[in-house]
Amino acid sequence: MEIIKVKDQQSGSQKAFELIAQGLQNNAHVLGLATGSTPIKLYQEMVKSNLDFSQITSINLDEYIGLDADNPQSYHYFMNQNLFQFKKFKNSYVPNGVASDIDAEIKNYDQIIADNPIDIQILGIGQNGHIGFNEPKTPFDCTTHRVQLTQSTIEANARFFADKNDVPKEAISMGIASIMKSKHIILMAWGANKAEAIYQTVKGPISEDCPASILQNHPHATIIVDEAAASKL
Ligand code: GLP
Repeated sequence: MEIIKVKDQQSGSQKAFELIAQGLQNNAHVLGLATGSTPIKLYQEMVKSNLDFSQITSINLDEYIGLDADNPQSYHYFMNQNLFQFKKFKNSYVPNGVASDIDAEIKNYDQIIADNPIDIQILGIGQNGHIGFNEPKTPFDCTTHRVQLTQSTIEANARFFADKNDVPKEAISMGIASIMKSKHIILMAWGANKAEAIYQTVKGPISEDCPASILQNHPHATIIVDEAAASKL
């Protein structure tokens, strides 16, 4: 694992952007993308840039079950608002949270990932160490799957919803095995509320109790942290 400590979210997002720009120069053509507040400034850097994504495929990590692309709380909507409305990609995949057959959608998503091996995967991290929506105790070998969100994740994500009861209880998430197949993984974390998760990820045992700790086994993982998120390292 390479740990890059930066002053703040702005400089960390700039750093992540530079790694993506370098990757594209070196022929990366599939980007794994994440949602949440963590990557927002990275997407702003991508939007401001003159990089051309029209030959790039993007594959998102996850989506809430029950929210469609027009729902402002869906991850589909988030991606349109923050990136896709400004930058044209060749293809952009986000799990369909309103598929009539969720199991078929999960299979279909695994096929998409198999057909488009991810060159660079962007990750945030949950306060409990989750990546994508792979909550603690998720087996490391799982591929795309249906997830029951933990109470702590529901509470952490309630800030984006008018009412805590509106937060979906389930999601579709790319699995840890799929994430680990990405050639390069860039995990970003900002703020003191991520410090413990970052400590467990970097210094803790490799354990399903902290899903992100598996990144210790990845041949090319870059962790970009601001001072507050790095405070326990
Ligand atoms: C959600 C997403 C994750 C994200 C996490 C952290 O649970 N599924 O992909 O990393 O939240 O969110 P934030 O970046 O807002 O702290």
